[in-house]
Amino acid sequence: MKPIGLLDGKIIDLNENVVPMEDRGHQFGDGVYEVTRVYNGHCFALKPHMDRLYRSLRELTIPAVYTYEELAEFHELLIKESGITDGAIYLQITRGVAPRAHGFPETVVPRLTMSIRPGSATPSKNVLEGGKGLLIPDERWLRCDIKSLNLLGNVMGKQKAKDAGCVEGIQVRDGIVTEGTSSNFFVVKDEVVWTHPRCNLILTGITRTILIDKILPDLGLVLVEKKFDEAFAKSAQEAFITGTNSEIIPILALSRQPVGNGSIGPITSKIRDAYWALIDEECKRK
Ligand code: PDD
Repeated sequence: MKPIGLLDGKIIDLNENVVPMEDRGHQFGDGVYEVTRVYNGHCFALKPHMDRLYRSLRELTIPAVYTYEELAEFHELLIKESGITDGAIYLQITRGVAPRAHGFPETVVPRLTMSIRPGSATPSKNVLEGGKGLLIPDERWLRCDIKSLNLLGNVMGKQKAKDAGCVEGIQVRDGIVTEGTSSNFFVVKDEVVWTHPRCNLILTGITRTILIDKILPDLGLVLVEKKFDEAFAKSAQEAFITGTNSEIIPILALSRQPVGNGSIGPITSKIRDAYWALIDEECKRK
């Protein structure tokens, strides 16, 4: 069982130097990415991840040169060749390699790189015990709906949160709470679940969509997709983040102020259990 990579369909060593100097992903962050979790040797929610990838490519006018079937096959190949049963697969597509110039080159072929790394087969400590969130300014560009390789705002925000002993930076733009640096953000107030509406200011998380389309209706929970401010978030009884890597992490404090009574709330707990059950079912864990 070892982490490995894939370049344009071929398995490679992860330590191989495969990024050319003039890859536009390297020089401009001109590309897109996805990450999919592997549980029990199965990719979880691969189709929606790949659908979002195609959307990101379209928004950046990068041609899609691989079919869904090919991309699914590459995921399978990485799982098989690495022997990894639980972990994550990252996929990047850049616009390609061309002499450095901001405008798009006339002819350029997109480049695909992928990697698989092992992860835990059981939920993380953060998922089990929850963690603290830090409210931070949202300093990203205005197309957060595209899963682009440009992640500096997210990277700087995550580090700020880490330095403050928090599991996530919860971003605030013009007074409105948008999302985490690598997750979506939800609060529960008077038994109603709130999250930022789908628009250019947040990434439409696959985990978020699973909650909205399946888990919340199954649990009979009411969802409100509306903007809310910092004060509203701080006055919530429960809060949590969702993401492929995060899964569902209860947020027990926001900028040092406890959320509710500062422990994992009953609604968050139910949603988290339902998410695990869904993974068990789709990935045949039980
Ligand atoms: N990040 N918002 C942002 C800014 C994200 O980067 C992510 C995911 C999410 C949640 O999306 P999803 O549920 O599809 O994972 C929301 C991934 C995990 C990452 O960058 O590693």
